[in-house]
Formats: sequence, C-alpha cells, structure tokens
Amino acid sequence: MSAAPEHDLPAAALADTVFVARRRELLAELARILPATRVISEPEMLRVYECDGLSAYRQAPLAVALPDSEAEVVAILKLCRRLGVPVVARGAGTGLSGGAYPHAQGLLLVTARMNRMLEINAEARYAIVEPGVRNLAISEAVAAHGLYYAPDPSSQLACSIGGNVAENAGGIHCLKYGLTVHNVLALRLVTIDGEVLELGHMAPESAGLDLLALAIGSEGLLGVVTEVTVRLLPRPPLARCLLAAFADLAAAGEAVAAIIAAGVIPAGLELMDRGATEAVERYIGAGYPADAAAILLVESDGDAHTVAAEIEQVCAILTAHGATELRLAADEAERQRFWAGRKAAFPATGTIAPDYYCMDGTIPRRHLGDMLTAIAAMQARFGLRCVNVFHAGDGNLHPLILYDANESGALERAEAFGAEILELTVRLGGSITGEHGVGIEKIGQMCVQFGEAERHAMHRLKAAFDPPGLLNPGKAIPSLHRCAEYGSRHGHHGTPQPFAELPRF
Ligand code: LAC
Ligand code: ZN
Repeated sequence: MSAAPEHDLPAAALADTVFVARRRELLAELARILPATRVISEPEMLRVYECDGLSAYRQAPLAVALPDSEAEVVAILKLCRRLGVPVVARGAGTGLSGGAYPHAQGLLLVTARMNRMLEINAEARYAIVEPGVRNLAISEAVAAHGLYYAPDPSSQLACSIGGNVAENAGGIHCLKYGLTVHNVLALRLVTIDGEVLELGHMAPESAGLDLLALAIGSEGLLGVVTEVTVRLLPRPPLARCLLAAFADLAAAGEAVAAIIAAGVIPAGLELMDRGATEAVERYIGAGYPADAAAILLVESDGDAHTVAAEIEQVCAILTAHGATELRLAADEAERQRFWAGRKAAFPATGTIAPDYYCMDGTIPRRHLGDMLTAIAAMQARFGLRCVNVFHAGDGNLHPLILYDANESGALERAEAFGAEILELTVRLGGSITGEHGVGIEKIGQMCVQFGEAERHAMHRLKAAFDPPGLLNPGKAIPSLHRCAEYGSRHGHHGTPQPFAELPRF
C-alpha cells in the first residue's frame, strides 16, 4: 500500500505494552473532559471510523473523541500535547484523499456534534457556523432570505463545513463563484497548544500575513477549526443548463477552452465521457444521450437577459467545435435532473466496477484534449478502465480508475495509473490537486509538484503552528525520506522534471 503514511503500525502493535499503557492513560484523561458516551474505544465501534471517503485504506485510531464545544476541543488538544498523542480531525468523513485517515497511535477528533448555526446576518450576508454544520444546511437555513453558500461539493448533503475548510473544497459552481477559500471570511482555529486563533475578519483587506488563506486547505496540519464565518450570496434569479453532446472526446475538451477564451464564465462547465454517462444512466437515468463520446453541461445564471445572451453565445461556440446535439433543459425539473446525474457520477461509477480510484488534478484548459488522449493510452498500458468526470471549466480532472481490490496487484496498478496522471498534470503546467486535497493519496506526487526548498518551507510553517508535529502527521507534506522512496520507485528524484516515459505535448 504505497499511499499510506509513514506511521502505519502492524496490527501486532495492539499487543505492545507501551501502546496499551498509552491508550489507557489517554482514555483515563479523556474521561475527565468528555462524558463516556462521547469517547469511543471499543474495537468494533472504532471500525466505523477506519477510513474516510478514500476507502481503499483503512486503519482504526486509538480512540475517537466527540467534543461538543470549542472549550472541549481546547482541552482535548492540550491533553494530546501533554501526552504526545497525535490528533487527526474529522468532520463527516466524506473527504476523498484520506485527510481524515486515522493514526493508529492517535486520537480521532470528530467535530460532527458541533453543528450549531451561531448567527445568520442576512443584511451583511454572512453566517457564523460550527464546523460540523453540513454544507447544504447553510444554504437551506438562509434560503428564506434569498441567499445561499456557493461552494457545492457533490457530497454537500453530507459533508461538513469544517472538512470543506480543511480541504479547500470546491464543487460544480466554483468556476464562477470560487472555492472555499474565496467564500470564507473568518475562522477560529485551535492550535495543539490549545490557543484559539481568530483568523480573517469582515473587512475586505486585512493587515499582516494572510493566515486565513493559509489555514484554508491546510488539511488539519495547523489546527482544528471550531467556528467558520461564511460569505452568503444572493441566489441568482434564473439558472439554465445546456447539455451538449460530442462524438469526439478531445473536441469536447477544446470546446471548453474556447468558451473560456471567448470571455464567458459559466456558472458550471462540466465534462463527462461515455463511460460516466452510461454509468449514470443505468444508476439514476438523468436523460443523457446514449451514443455521445462525451457530454458537456453548461450552466448560465443571472437575470433573464444575461442568461439568454450567454446561452446563445455558448451554443454558437459549441456548434463551431463540433457539438452533435444541444439540449437546453426545458424547465427547472430537467435542469435538476441534468445536475443530479453529474452529482451522482461517483456513486454511479461504484456500480459498474467492484472498486474505483478517484483522481483529482488540475491542468490548463487548453490541454484537456491532450490529457484525455493520454489517459486513453494509459488505460491500455495499465490494463484498467478509466471513466472521466471533469470540472472542465476549471481544468479540474476527476479520472475514476476502475479496479477490483480482490485481484492481486490491481490496487497497485490503479495507484501507478493515478500517479502517472498526476505527474502528467505537473508536466502540463497544472497541479496534483484541484479540490480534494493531498491527504495520504497524493503525498508521493507532492515530491514531483514541489522541489525540496518549497517542501522545506511548508515543514517550517507547520512547525511554527504545531512544534511537536502532532496534528495529522504524515499527511499532505511529504518527508525527505518519502520523496527519496517515491523517486527511486518512480525512476526520478523528487524534483519537478520531464519524465521520458510520458508522452510530451
Ligand atoms: C465531484 C466531487 C466528488 O466532482 O469532487 O463529484
Ligand atoms: Zn469534484
């Protein structure tokens, strides 16, 4: 299991006397902070927390703590600091890169119970919420004011805002409205020392270093979020969704680049290849065309005049780039159906193969066609099928590599396939993550994306917030050792460079 962090322990560790003593001490001390119902330590109960959305890797934590308030989070972190126990924070556990993968010798701090909405200010258009509040619950709570919270990950029904902050989550509408980092105004963050930092504020410009931006997407390495102030936007009066079919995958990619090049920023611009649309059709029947090599979903929102003009312009571009069919959702129900299909693409993929390995990377839009061609060649080389669901407008890829975990070596092949896609994103001038974070999944490719100097700077920043290195150790920033190991396995040396074995564009 190459993606696993360095601190993995064999199951035999449970028999280790030091380990047992440490666990006993932690549980005894936790009992002074939390009622017994909010500390989980029985092995069968811990299984529920063995993994997050990256379910290929599983490991039970030492114990799970379910704090109810910031004061409890402070007490728990101070305790872990004193005992030298690693802490992994977890929200709803829907993350896809293993950011909340437990530490075998650590505490899993679950923020799910901290789910109160503390303030809604419709006039000033913000809401202050606890980290366990579900993403969609914010929009539901402010809907009566004609407002909503824009970032909309596909898991928005379940995922919580604390995790969205940790991973800098995106979603279908982040092309026009930005990622979490663009929609969060302030945070309260508790450090491993139990200090509460107030980051960001309501003013548009802030003095000093931008610690708010640093904290968003820091994957639980710097502190635990206890309060989030989110920006609320007025709901657009109208949204319409256009479906375009293509007989050629690369042409669909080129059409995406052409739309943005023309100066249009649709509210959403998504690509799904035939493998994905077929899976969705079988799963929920969204009404996607059966014979297209790829479809694009293009959403336009705003007032009726703006929407009509934008759709006309987009239709002309799509036609010029070879769209074989254009279908404007006739009504709100059809629009919802088009998006329901896209949002169900991952679970739908889960029904056509025993397992899938989901990648997340970003490339310049003009290379979308090249990337799709390269992935097609990789499928043959790795002997694994890959279906593609892209936030195409952002150049954000989600190739889903299908495999069967019961087949010996299949997971390793899927990992190698994924690694090659991510390395290609770097070569094309892109990034190894778009919106899912690095976690444990892409930690090896961090060695390719960044040179030693940048990684060292990240380690020093981490140490400034977390001197003992107890918060989510082994995630997001690779050690020198890991990069050396990755380099020797992949035939290069952990610095960004061209890879002879990959196609060149
Ligand atoms: C999506 C999420 C899973 O794009 O990133 O569906
Ligand atoms: Zn996505």
